[in-house]
Amino acid sequence: MPGNNYFYESIELAEKLGCKLLEVKHKIFPDGEKYVRILNAEEIKGKTVVVSNTMYPNQNDSLIETLMLVNASLKAGASRVVAFIPYIAYARQDKVFLPGEPVTADIVLSMLRETGVSCIYTVDIHSPSILERNFECYENILVFNYMVEQVKQFVNDPIILAPDKGALHRAKHVALKQGLEYDYLVKERDRETGVIRIKPKELDIRGRDVILVDDIISTGGTIAEASRLLIENGARKVIVCASHGLMIGNAIEKIMKSGVHKVILANTLGIKYDIPVIEYVDIIPYVSEILSKSLQ
Ligand code: R5P
Repeated sequence: MPGNNYFYESIELAEKLGCKLLEVKHKIFPDGEKYVRILNAEEIKGKTVVVSNTMYPNQNDSLIETLMLVNASLKAGASRVVAFIPYIAYARQDKVFLPGEPVTADIVLSMLRETGVSCIYTVDIHSPSILERNFECYENILVFNYMVEQVKQFVNDPIILAPDKGALHRAKHVALKQGLEYDYLVKERDRETGVIRIKPKELDIRGRDVILVDDIISTGGTIAEASRLLIENGARKVIVCASHGLMIGNAIEKIMKSGVHKVILANTLGIKYDIPVIEYVDIIPYVSEILSKSLQ
């Protein structure tokens, strides 16, 4: 069942899974509230339903729409509802960083669980522990190997780097599979102002090609700062692989100014940027293989 934000990818997913794509009627009430209705809902009875939607852009609207589709499926008699949500909004607020803050990631995931999602599939969530503490059945699909295949044409003997220690598991995952070197940079972010400082590490990257891997590019500050530092320290080429390219504000401009050669993104969001520096990798064929195994 497709959500509005991920409509075309959901069609592709249904085709790959060999599932019927159900049509959903959407409307907005005069006061701004949403309405959804699954057409031919009688076909759902006794079946597993896959609700496929993503939560960027329009995070709050997509969340409520996803919850409505889950609830509507169960009301129509689905035997279980599986959710594929490649980008889960609020995932970065995964703990109380400053006193008085909520853990919004837990709110979002518990809403999905309590509404009736029995198993959740996502792509490279910021911190996988939020899935673990909210769901018994989940899978965090990492797509970097898939993306790095696309990068190989641009690089020679690359080193994989994470822009901070928190992203090291991503660099390690792809480097071990590809037999490449990996490491991380040291990042500090001011929690009040959002300003990022990346500190140089003892890392000899002179003349080397670097593949920077991260989960999210939001304002572009992390990637731009990391790339600037790497190029300043003699890197020959910097290629960025990120699962979710939000590219807020002047992120693209910042990244281009920093000297990045290419940015490879996964198609996990409801927006795409059509500019030469950005290339998208279609992850749906890979995701459908994983989903089809667990739906059997
Ligand atoms: C933070 O820890 C994440 O992994 C990303 O590095 C971060 O969200 C990127 O944000 P921005 O593009 O605003 O620097």
